[in-house]
Amino acid sequence: MRASMGGQRLFTVINWLVHLVSLLPFASLLSAALRNTLGPDPADTLAIETGLWTLRFLLLSLAISPLRDITGWAKLTPYRRTFGLYGLFYACIHFLTYIAFLLQFRWTEISGDILERPYITVGFIAYLILVVLGGTSTKAMMRRLGRRWKQLHKLVYAANILALIHLIWILRTDLTDAVIYGSILLPLLVYRIYRHFAGKKSKAGPLSMR
Ligand code: HEM
Repeated sequence: MRASMGGQRLFTVINWLVHLVSLLPFASLLSAALRNTLGPDPADTLAIETGLWTLRFLLLSLAISPLRDITGWAKLTPYRRTFGLYGLFYACIHFLTYIAFLLQFRWTEISGDILERPYITVGFIAYLILVVLGGTSTKAMMRRLGRRWKQLHKLVYAANILALIHLIWILRTDLTDAVIYGSILLPLLVYRIYRHFAGKKSKAGPLSMR
């Protein structure tokens, strides 16, 4: 009894730490913005930093399932949603930065930009996917959508791929960041495909490997 209470307490502390650490980039960017230390082009710095943090949280969210399978620590599962929602949080600030500082609320230009600039189109589709996934990430929506929920939430892989294409399109020549994030995404995708087929195999009958 006492051991399980201790475990629960540790879990609560970890939970708080996860939220605290996840909000640190936001706090640091906000503080730099208020102190006017975002560099010579603050809007660009904000766009780059919030974009990178979106991508990092999305990758972290994808990494939870393999990590849980390797460690056998089922308590990791909820962090898939937590980090996914932080990805959405930073994506919202990223989109807001684009609308407020880069486009300066010139609403008529937004639709043109989204339709005519491929890297914006791709980023916008990734963002819309995240909004839909965030909106349907509650237990109530899970129950309501039933089996379709799992199908829908596989779109998180599409969002990650589109986000990487968005990044490659922006970077054009120096692709260092794209290579770094791409080489994190690739094994996560391969693992997902492996799990998909291993799952099918195990459903096929008792002779299967998993
Ligand atoms: C899941 C969604 C998204 C992710 C993960 C993402 C990711 C990124 C990243 C990593 C960068 C930094 C690139 C660099 O290092 O220079 C970036 C820049 C940028 N993104 Fe996004 N983005 C997303 C959605 C969007 C959306 C919806 C828009 C606008 C409609 C947008 C517009 C921009 C712009 C304007 C830049 C700055 C480009 C520049 O420096 O010239 N992004 N994004």
